[in-house]
Amino acid sequence: MNNDPSLSLADQYSTVRSLTLNLCCTLEPEDTVVQSMPDVSPTKWHLAHVTWFFEKFVLKALDRGYKRYNDEYDYLFNSYYHSAGKMHVRPKRGLLSRPTLADIVAYRSYVDDAMRALLEQRGGEPELANLVVLGLNHEQQHQELLLTDIKHVFWCNPVVTTMNAGLSTPASDAPGEYSYVGGHEGIHEIGTDSGGFCFDNETPRHKALLHKHRIGTRLVTNAEYREFIQDGAYSDSNLWLSDGWAVINERSWDRPLYWSEDLGSEFTLGGQREINEHAPVSHVSFYEADAFARWTGARLPTEFEWEIAAAGQDVKGNLLESGCWHPATGNSQQFFGDVWEWTSSAYAPYPGFVPLDGTLGEYNGKFMCNQMTVRGGSCVTSADHIRASYRSFFYPDARWQFLGFRLARDGH
Ligand SMILES: [Fe+2]
Repeated sequence: MNNDPSLSLADQYSTVRSLTLNLCCTLEPEDTVVQSMPDVSPTKWHLAHVTWFFEKFVLKALDRGYKRYNDEYDYLFNSYYHSAGKMHVRPKRGLLSRPTLADIVAYRSYVDDAMRALLEQRGGEPELANLVVLGLNHEQQHQELLLTDIKHVFWCNPVVTTMNAGLSTPASDAPGEYSYVGGHEGIHEIGTDSGGFCFDNETPRHKALLHKHRIGTRLVTNAEYREFIQDGAYSDSNLWLSDGWAVINERSWDRPLYWSEDLGSEFTLGGQREINEHAPVSHVSFYEADAFARWTGARLPTEFEWEIAAAGQDVKGNLLESGCWHPATGNSQQFFGDVWEWTSSAYAPYPGFVPLDGTLGEYNGKFMCNQMTVRGGSCVTSADHIRASYRSFFYPDARWQFLGFRLARDGH
């Protein structure tokens, strides 16, 4: 989206907005209302919230003639922007049978018409362009959430429902023994100042020290994770962080979120399927990733080790000429677009971090406490939205996203 200079901003807007509706084309209105747990938002709420984002931060801010579609939507569809006013509580989004899906689709059209008119008149203004690009990247983030959330909703329904058979974690060919390549010891530049779109939490570019380490050439697979389970790992307290041990016992976790009890199949957006042994394990928490690493005598990479290793490749895994990956030591794979990768790094501000001005400063910065950084994007992240510096973050017990991991080791 933001990487395609051939598209006008108005065309980028139309492309992203239409994709969101297209993702819902196989859903029935009843599907779009359900909230299966507090982390999950109903599809209908996602459709409205991303529209509210453009209404609130673009139209209301920059278009004096804009008339709000419905005064109550500020309360219903504000997610977490306290400086923008009060909001409906997150765990009760599934109680909103009204406005209906048809009302929300009409709301989207109303805002789209106003946005197109504004872009036609003033699309060249930098302030408008910056806010629209942020709104489109925000909508792409919600496209991903929409898919992971409806996956959880369908999983909770004993009547097997499918959405799109094409959306599952990509598998490699038989990957062979887990191997490592030497990482880049020394002081490295982390983050971005490239001038292209990025979220505020990717800045400023700054120096970080990497110690001697090796990083895994691929993600940990389902077969390897099954071996971990069958070795009794979920009953061995020595492998677990204290919080992790408490969580797996309190919640009776003994396998990844969507795996069947016999460890033979998993729920996907294409329905129940046999587990592909070569695919990366997915839907595991930070605690499970950390315990697996300890079981093998390894650890998770830091987000800085990950970024330096990944920055030498494009999103298809091809080595970049300018990349710093050492060609003599080999090529690490699966950095982008398979599963979000847990790192050992707490989600924290970079030195000199300055949040966006005003209400939008609440977008990322206020979450920099008690969460872990994940990197790389998943199979349901927009491909043109993925970059080496992109940081997302989840609580260590989160599992409903496509979350997996690779290993790292100290020394060479
Ligand atoms: Fe949002």
